[in-house]
Amino acid sequence: MVTLLENPLRIGLQQDRIPEPQILIIFGASGDLTQRKLVPAIYQMKRERRLPPELTIVGVARRDWSHDYFREHLREGVEEFGGGLGSQSIWDDFAKGLFYQPGDIDNQDDYQKLKTFLAELDQQRGTRGNRVFYLSVAPKFFAEAIQQLGAAGMIEDPKKQRLVIEKPFGRDLNSAQTLNRVVQKVCDEQQVYRIDHYLGKETVQNLMVFRFANAIFEPLWNRQFVDHIQITVAETVGLEGRAGYYETAGALRDMVQNHLMQLFCLTAMEAPNSLEANSIRNEKVKVLQATHLADLETLGNSAVRGQYTEGWMKGKQVPAYRQEEGAAAESTTPTYAALKLTIDNWRWKGVPFYLRTGKRMPKKISEIAIQFKEVPFLMFQSAAKQANPNVLTMRIQPNEGIALRFEVKTPGTSLRTRSVEMDFRYDTAFGQANTDAYSRLLVDCMLGDQTLFTRGDEVEASWRILTPLLNVWDAPAPPESIPLYEAGTWGPVESELLLNADGRNWRRL
Ligand code: BG6
Repeated sequence: MVTLLENPLRIGLQQDRIPEPQILIIFGASGDLTQRKLVPAIYQMKRERRLPPELTIVGVARRDWSHDYFREHLREGVEEFGGGLGSQSIWDDFAKGLFYQPGDIDNQDDYQKLKTFLAELDQQRGTRGNRVFYLSVAPKFFAEAIQQLGAAGMIEDPKKQRLVIEKPFGRDLNSAQTLNRVVQKVCDEQQVYRIDHYLGKETVQNLMVFRFANAIFEPLWNRQFVDHIQITVAETVGLEGRAGYYETAGALRDMVQNHLMQLFCLTAMEAPNSLEANSIRNEKVKVLQATHLADLETLGNSAVRGQYTEGWMKGKQVPAYRQEEGAAAESTTPTYAALKLTIDNWRWKGVPFYLRTGKRMPKKISEIAIQFKEVPFLMFQSAAKQANPNVLTMRIQPNEGIALRFEVKTPGTSLRTRSVEMDFRYDTAFGQANTDAYSRLLVDCMLGDQTLFTRGDEVEASWRILTPLLNVWDAPAPPESIPLYEAGTWGPVESELLLNADGRNWRRL
């Protein structure tokens, strides 16, 4: 049980301000992300009066839709995937600011038409030339879209025009560097918002507050007291009809390089000098530069991949990855990855960080577990016949919260110990739903706050760590080369062995 005390500390200093009137232009607007996530998130902000009334959204995609068709498509999205319309009048007001402009990503004429249309909207809606261009297209089109926007002179003003780029940013170190060069030719880094929606999650932002607004944990946060750290992002979903993308990505590109590496950075980095965006990003880059796969000679000692076969989830039979629509019959795309990372710095030398993520796991659960060292000598009789080390668990989702496991005396005449947990839960402490990650990030971007977005050198530093693995896992290989796991289980047996080799086990979740 946690008592809530007033504390005004917040990360991202600008959230209570209302952004200036502006136009959000979404490229790839006919796709799932716009209907399921982006527009429901923006609408939520509208309902909470966090947006300027002039806010205008222009969807751009190849399909020949009308403004009205687009509005109807988005309304269905808000009803099905968001919190509903709230009131019809709010929706009507919001819908007046929704527009659709058909266009091809590689056709400069279409950018010129769009430019003219945006200028008209500035007059009509009072949006003052402020623009956010959101690239929600397939990653292979990022460079093209950025170059075309540059050629059309649409992204020249660093104060008024911003660019949001979805993940994955690049496919490896080389392609990320190339993409960064394209971006740098066209605009300033201060205009670029590389999005990773995990950074918009309340629990992820809390990692810094938890570490740096409390005096009692930080002194323990190092190699003297920590035995190892486990970061888990487990999902129950499978391919979800995204074979076209996922077959070219796999778990390393889809989850590890971005979401898991962000959790890793926030857990491992040094305290920044301030909450200013670059101050935080500098610390992330520093820790990434000191990090590498644990054994670069024998990669099998550093990483394990896996792919799900058919199995049972909640009483329903689900197909194998290779039977999913669009997946190759002999695909070796990993749907599971487990990694052991080491950091060469004073704080963490010798403390392994184990990361794992997978689809079709038994539970959806994301957490960071700090396992502390055992006591040097146990004079009590433990119920488990061994010392149970203290574990601090930060639950990212669901059941958001933080728990600390420690030993207590079992009531009775004999002196025996047992593990118990002290548990903080967001829902009981705050009694309100957390702000959706995309809402938070979109408003930050409109406000020009880059704190929760990834800088160019940061994304490269993260790719650098994974490159040796990508080189091996991407090489053509027979289908039997990838370890398999049954859907509804915790990954391939090889992943257990990765930790067993160090005398450790994955946490049972
Ligand atoms: C996305 C990945 O970035 O994150 C998906 O592309 C994954 O494959 C999703 O399912 C997980 O996000 P969340 O917020 O549900 O943990």
